[in-house]
Amino acid sequence: MPNLLMSEREYAHEPVLLQEVLSLLVEDRDGLYLDATLGAGGHAEAVLRSLSCEGRLLGMDLDPEALSLSSERLKEFGGRFRCVQGNFKDIARILQNEGFFPLAGALFDLGVSSLQLDEPSRGFAFQREGPLDMRLDPANPLTASRIVNEWPTEQIELLLREYGEEREAPRIARWIVEARSKEPIETTGGLASLIEARVPRSGGIHPATRTFQALRIAVNGELENLTRGLGDVLPMLRSGGRIAAISFHSLEDRIIKNVFRSFTGNGTCRGLSDGPLTPRQEEVERNPRSRSAKLRAVEKL
Ligand SMILES: C[S@@+](CC[C@H](N)C(=O)[O-])C[C@H]1O[C@@H](n2cnc3c(N)ncnc32)[C@H](O)[C@@H]1O
Repeated sequence: MPNLLMSEREYAHEPVLLQEVLSLLVEDRDGLYLDATLGAGGHAEAVLRSLSCEGRLLGMDLDPEALSLSSERLKEFGGRFRCVQGNFKDIARILQNEGFFPLAGALFDLGVSSLQLDEPSRGFAFQREGPLDMRLDPANPLTASRIVNEWPTEQIELLLREYGEEREAPRIARWIVEARSKEPIETTGGLASLIEARVPRSGGIHPATRTFQALRIAVNGELENLTRGLGDVLPMLRSGGRIAAISFHSLEDRIIKNVFRSFTGNGTCRGLSDGPLTPRQEEVERNPRSRSAKLRAVEKL
């Protein structure tokens, strides 16, 4: 029974752009690979299968639950796989501590996994009633509830504008502050219905989508982590080593594009595709979560 549950949960997350990642990332079958966002281990498993018996992979994730699921899934690879809890903003220190470099490749598959999104107690999804949490790392002291119930109006407005690109930022921030003066906003459903009652739906997108995206980015410091992680992984690559990064919204993609442009502009890397790769129609039909994915990759010269 536990095994059945484990495999049901493992396969609940389908790795996005898998063939494209393998063909851009894996050049050296004997090399050392980093999966900086291990999640349910789908990409990691495919990379490990494509390597020789010399090739090894280190998986990293902020979320201990993701690490325990993927360790179980990848145990058949024995000493060729190991994992570590950590934030990819600390990549250089972690790889040095682990003695795991120079890398032949590093993968960043950003955001949250379906395992996290579908678990109501994590508070990531407005479609599922749960606490306003949204932390990837349970040791992080900042939760979405603290932002919503404690931050001043102007700071909430700025966050909604910068991380959610939300046109209604000033009004939503004001409604949040008015509502919390009567009683705290503690749940995903409470926040979603507050917004839904006042902002009309447009283009089939739930009006709370951008607010939830903004809160998640702020709680987890996602954009700062990404800029740091991409910058700090480059010195850990060997010549010919590759970085592949999958983003799911324009703020992440802009950072990846600019960081990679700086690498190619100063002659340390070459780009591996003209523009980002996106999922084919069949993949989007099979896995709607992939529809906004963009993959970019560079090779260190
Ligand atoms: C989209 S999922 C990865 C799914 C994975 N590629 C697979 O095939 O199962 C993203 C994962 O990255 C982790 N994550 C997000 N930000 C992180 C960070 N700064 N450092 C380490 N892990 C992070 C999340 O906890 C989540 O498990």
